[in-house]
Parts: sequence; C-alpha cells; structure tokens
Amino acid sequence: MGLIFVENILLKLQVIVVSTRPGRKGEAVGNWFYEQAVNHGGFETELIDLSELDLPMFDEANHPRLQNYETPHTLEWAQIVERGDAYVFVTPEYNYGAPPSLINALDYLSREWAYKAAAFVSYGGVSAGTRGVEMSKQILTTLSVMPIPRAVSLPFFAQYFDEAGLFVPGENQNKAAAEMLDELGRWAAALKPLRA
Ligand SMILES: Cc1cc2nc3c(=O)[nH]c(=O)nc-3n(C[C@H](O)[C@H](O)[C@H](O)COP(=O)(O)O)c2cc1C
Repeated sequence: MGLIFVENILLKLQVIVVSTRPGRKGEAVGNWFYEQAVNHGGFETELIDLSELDLPMFDEANHPRLQNYETPHTLEWAQIVERGDAYVFVTPEYNYGAPPSLINALDYLSREWAYKAAAFVSYGGVSAGTRGVEMSKQILTTLSVMPIPRAVSLPFFAQYFDEAGLFVPGENQNKAAAEMLDELGRWAAALKPLRA
C-alpha cells in the first residue's frame, strides 16, 4: 500500500504496547507488529510503550476534557496521543478483561483521542485476548474513538516465540496485520476531517 495522506499530511500511526509488567511478552509482540507496520508503509509509525511512560494511577484533579493538566506525565502523554491519527493497541487480556494499564492510559485524556481510529493486536490463550478487546471498545467509543472490527487476534500465542525470545508468527499473521492496517488507514483518513 502507498503512503496515506490527508490534505498532504502523512497519517501518523502509534503502536502502543499495553502490558507494563516485568517479564511481559507484549514487548516482543509489539516489536513484531511495529515491523509489520513499517513494512506496510502506509503511515509514519511510532512505537509507544506504556511501561516506559510509567503513568501512575489516574491522578488529575480536573476532567480531562478541560485539558487543564497539572502533572508532567499527563502533559507528556497528551502530547504523544495528540500527534497520532490512528492507534494500534498491542494487548493481552487479564481475567477476561482489559488490562488496567490500558484503561488507565485511556482515562487520562479525552479530546486528544477524539475522532481517531483504533485497532487491536491481541494475544492470549484460546480467546486470543478478544474478551479484553471487546471490553476496551466500550471506553474507546465513549472517547469518540472508532475501534475498527478488523483485528489481529493471536490465540495460543506462546507457540510463536523462538529460542531468542523473538515473536515470529507466520505468513497468515503477517497478512492479517497488513489487512488490518489497510482498513485502519481508510478509517483514519475518513475521520481526520472531523477534527478540523
Ligand atoms: C493477571 C493475569 C490475568 C490473566 N488472564 C488471562 C485471561 O483472562 N485470558 C488469557 O488468555 N490469558 C490470561 N493471562 C495469561 C496471559 O495471556 C499471559 O500471561 C500473557 O503473557 C500476558 O501478556 P503480557 O506478558 O504481555 O503481560 C493472564 C495473565 C495475568 C498476569
């Protein structure tokens, strides 16, 4: 796919690694997907790691829609999310639900998310993390984010790690990634004029 421009501006994609726990597998899954996104070539792509960002439990005094932020970590997070046109959350599910790190990161902001498109790369056991994905969609739509139906779902994902700890799934998963990115590009381009 060629570069996706809206009014001569290249769309920016953020690949967001959700898991923050020590020993997490999400970092390797995120690295794989980031490479897929760079190879796809439709977007200017950035890898964001919630573990590096290290947001505390939501600690702003005011409702995020006021954008009256009082802490440096919120300002930093707001600047990151603001520059994105589309997001891919690389996420597991915890106890059939969305990881608290994702819910917390979403709750921090409001306007920065609005009228943008999002997709999921989810991983886990038999469910491939999809129950957590569905739970996250309720919050995303409240934030005026369009979570697209096309997804990359990775059941029994442990089978795809090589001896060096790299996540190496097969051609089917690479194809699913490319197709999801095509679809995400269409949605992100269509939504951008709404933010004018
Ligand atoms: C607190 C917790 C809850 C979990 N709940 C689920 C679950 O509901 N469904 C599932 O498929 N895997 C579940 N798992 C297993 C995870 O899929 C697996 O540990 C995965 O590596 C988590 O992603 P991470 O390593 O990037 O944090 C859970 C793991 C943890 C730590």
